[in-house]
Amino acid sequence: MIGVGTGSTVNLFIEELATIKGRIKGAVSSSEASTARLKAHHIPVFELNTVDEVPVYIDGADEINHYLHMIKGGGGALTREKIIGAVAEKFVCIADQSKYVDVLGSFPLPVEVVPMARSFVARELVKLGGHPELRDGFITDNGNIILDVHGLKIAKPVELEATINQLAGVVTCGLFARRRADVLLLGREDGVEVIQ
Ligand code: A5P
Repeated sequence: MIGVGTGSTVNLFIEELATIKGRIKGAVSSSEASTARLKAHHIPVFELNTVDEVPVYIDGADEINHYLHMIKGGGGALTREKIIGAVAEKFVCIADQSKYVDVLGSFPLPVEVVPMARSFVARELVKLGGHPELRDGFITDNGNIILDVHGLKIAKPVELEATINQLAGVVTCGLFARRRADVLLLGREDGVEVIQ
């Protein structure tokens, strides 16, 4: 059983997974988009609640630092990604070197918010030093909106993740710091570097 993330990097992974699909029982998926892609390859997709364990979860990142803290959610699938990441024994991040940064925050931090809390949460994010922007016309797989928070230089990812997640109306933010990646497979021009 493999946990499958979301995004253009994961889409490439799904292509490779399809070549060995006879050797796996199936997948749990972090988005409707990845589910559709897995099913198109006739890879069985299981409901997370019916699965006892997820030994490994493979996903991309929008930014990742050398502690393997990440910003995710550029594709809007952050909440389901965080849930599968929490269940998985091992979180493997696959990313190219453009995603590897010293300090998280150049990529706007996605925050999934229950629609009626949009203005309140936006005001609170401004107090935290950010510039939230509504992701126009986008609704998550869970029926919520995304605020993309610009202008944060995230010195303490674990603390900021907890602070934002505690705001009423926030489903989750795209900081993956409390549950970070266990391994990063970093695509460089001359090959893959394994960082853990
Ligand atoms: C999806 O919600 C995201 O967390 C993606 O995993 C992340 O944005 C990386 O996507 P790309 O591989 O498309 O850059």
